[in-house]
Amino acid sequence: PLIRLEDYRPSDWLIDTVDLDISLHPQKTRVRALIALRPNPEGQPGAPLTLDGDELALKALSLDGKPLDASAFTVTPQALTIPAPPPHDFTLTIETEVDPSANTKLMGLYRSSKVYCTQCEADGFRRITYFLDRPDVMSVYTVRLEAAKAEAPVLLSNGNLVATGEMPGSDRHFAVWHDPHPKPAYLFALVGGALDHVRQDYVTADGQKVELAVYVEPGKAGRAGWALDSLVRCMRWDEKVFGRNYDLDVFNVVAVSDFNMGAMENKGLNIFNDKYVLADPQTATDGDYAAIEAIIAHEYFHNWTGNRITCRDWFQLCLKEGLTVFRDQEFSSDERSRPVKRIADVRTLRSTQFSEDAGPLAHPVRPRAYKEINNFYTPTVYEKGAEVIRMLKVMIGDDAFRRGMDLYFERCDGTAATIEEFLACFAESSGQDLAHFARWYEQAGTPTITASGRYDAAAKRYTLDLKQSTPPTPGQAEKLPVVLPIRLGLVGALGDLPLQTSSNAYAGDGLVVLDDAALSITFEEVTEAPTPSLMRGFSAPARLDLDLPDAALLRLFSTDSDAFNRWQSLQTIAVRALVAAGKPGSNQQALAATAGALGAAFDGFLKTDALADPAFAAQVLRLPSPADIAREIGRDVDPDAVFAAHRSLSAAIGEALLGNLPGLRAALATTGPYRPDAASAGRRALRNELLGLAALAEPAEGARLCEEQFAAADNLTDRLAALAAMTLVPGARREALIDRFAEAYAGEPLVLDKWLMAQALIPESETLERVKRLMQHPAFSLGNPNRVRALIGGFAANLTQFNRADGEGYGFVSDIVIALDRSNPQVASRLLGSFKSWRMLEPGRRRLAQEALGTVARTPNLSRDVADIAERALA
Ligand code: ARG
Ligand code: ZN
Repeated sequence: PLIRLEDYRPSDWLIDTVDLDISLHPQKTRVRALIALRPNPEGQPGAPLTLDGDELALKALSLDGKPLDASAFTVTPQALTIPAPPPHDFTLTIETEVDPSANTKLMGLYRSSKVYCTQCEADGFRRITYFLDRPDVMSVYTVRLEAAKAEAPVLLSNGNLVATGEMPGSDRHFAVWHDPHPKPAYLFALVGGALDHVRQDYVTADGQKVELAVYVEPGKAGRAGWALDSLVRCMRWDEKVFGRNYDLDVFNVVAVSDFNMGAMENKGLNIFNDKYVLADPQTATDGDYAAIEAIIAHEYFHNWTGNRITCRDWFQLCLKEGLTVFRDQEFSSDERSRPVKRIADVRTLRSTQFSEDAGPLAHPVRPRAYKEINNFYTPTVYEKGAEVIRMLKVMIGDDAFRRGMDLYFERCDGTAATIEEFLACFAESSGQDLAHFARWYEQAGTPTITASGRYDAAAKRYTLDLKQSTPPTPGQAEKLPVVLPIRLGLVGALGDLPLQTSSNAYAGDGLVVLDDAALSITFEEVTEAPTPSLMRGFSAPARLDLDLPDAALLRLFSTDSDAFNRWQSLQTIAVRALVAAGKPGSNQQALAATAGALGAAFDGFLKTDALADPAFAAQVLRLPSPADIAREIGRDVDPDAVFAAHRSLSAAIGEALLGNLPGLRAALATTGPYRPDAASAGRRALRNELLGLAALAEPAEGARLCEEQFAAADNLTDRLAALAAMTLVPGARREALIDRFAEAYAGEPLVLDKWLMAQALIPESETLERVKRLMQHPAFSLGNPNRVRALIGGFAANLTQFNRADGEGYGFVSDIVIALDRSNPQVASRLLGSFKSWRMLEPGRRRLAQEALGTVARTPNLSRDVADIAERALA
């Protein structure tokens, strides 16, 4: 059924307390839930009670302690209904039995490498017991866990530990946990197993003692230190920047090896995909260290933005996710380089969210309807949701933003809130009317800002004309103007020019707000012909259509005060040339000219100031990806033509830089043992960017450099970069390095995931056969989401090979989606999302992709997850 935002009604019943007694067993776990029900004063008096279930088996049921007569209720695996419940408070004791070992969906209670764990967001709790499984029903939980001591010496749940003990005359023991903070069922969690841990004491800014611990598989405690260190840093940061203190005696993080998503913010017991916890120099890259830091922070920040204040219903998902992504981005910006973080985030936004917005799965940041909520944990809700918060901050200013957050924490603490309640806090703190701004939550699609400038030298006047439009998206044909904060400057030969304007649209500090279809601004006393630098810091999630000649863009690269736009200027030159050259039958002459201009710019940059900020320089040198170019072309895309243009530009740039390479690579080498800090990581990033260019420009010499680097490296970052660069060079040396890598990391599944993915991304027609072969490799398993995302997800992200002209790439992925759907619908539906850009392809591939989607859609007994994506993709 379709669930609609406008159909929201408060629950007729509330559950104040939940007492869970869970006896863990690999196949027969017994769950006894004692729940205290109360009629909701805001609900319908005398309403029936229907509790949600999912694949549940009821073993016993009592009301106020007395077994309930079979005539008084009905039960199916999906629901437990009491048609005429008592019209006052009462309790139910519900006994169910679940099989964690058979739970391949990884929702509810399951076992991952012998560890019991749970995932209840969005609606997994109903797979454990019958419940009012909706986020606006918040309860205080007391949880007694019991298990065989040998199997599960560690027993964890939410809140504080209140008792432990042995079960006399048996091999079992128990632990009792109590969480004083009322919470929705999706934040419930338990863990049981044999786990090692690292721990640290922490005292919050308001003086509360907290025991922090990170639990990992036995033998892996040596890899848990970075996560714990990140946790301490993000806790301090949240105290300082948002005034938020932690609120329990313990905070536990547990890493498990089978997990559908990245991690989960269960109150006091965050459960993570081990990929985002485990790190040491030999098994994690610089990127992994940064991702762990960001995700540890993200889940921790949810304690306030998500847990203390949760969502009224799942339509409000961005209330917690967009805001929390914004918070984790800010944390990483403060810990590392703000401009480099911004560039990296914008790359992700464009590649994942802009492409979602441009295709059949486009939806607003707050969707209006859904069939399967798990399909809405999307780049639009998360990343665009974070951009909306960032714009809000720009619009109202830092002070009003902080006061608005304080007000939100004060006013909504302990509640299940809405976007309206959130925005009201900022309207109040800023005195601004945010009604128009709120359209960002309702309207899907990426706006385009079209800009053009005119300079009147005699009058020393510069006029900027701005327009906006948003293309139609499914179900939203007509689009209205949104509020677009545009940070800007006028750049002269020596840098920023002073800004003066008579127009009141101009705020005087480099911010113009385009909230209508069009706007003109006139700047006075402009003493030289300026180059406009628009959307500084990427001030809105929009496209910018501003036709500046290459020379003007090169001027921005050398003189703009805004680091983001310095980076953007050369990207724009590359995108424009690649879009032109990537269309079939286009003239390749222009591309050669661009290669010359970019090569010279990079060369000059590398010789002068690149070494001052290598992380930034690495971003400058990294061209937009072929997929970025395909998205920019937007229709009748021929992936092979795009790829060929991209390859030729990259190789030409590599050639232009060859003379610099040995000296630069030597200068960038890091000395001493590996350290994951941002500065060292930046040096490795630039050095490895150069390695990739070398491999393209001069394959034999590049291959030799890769072999040399692989042998000499003392860390995974450099070894993996050597492997990745080597994949660009076909031949026996590549195959030899692939084999050496596998030998070196046998028994390291997370490292072998990278090895699988590097091979899945090889842009050659043999790759499909290679991927099929790798599915038989002992390192691969269809049952583990990380393995599937690495190999099959990697292949589906391979622009030319997933989109093979013969359609075999589509057939391969769609067959796996169908097979996987029987065991794990969430992983299957994510994988099917790889088809989201099929409509932009040229007609031959479009037809083949549509056929593959049709085959999926017609498969009997599809999960709701996969059926929903297939239907929407085809609609
Ligand atoms: N709330 C988690 C996070 O973003 C994501 C959990 C999503 N899980 C799911 N099955 N939809 O931190
Ligand atoms: Zn989140």
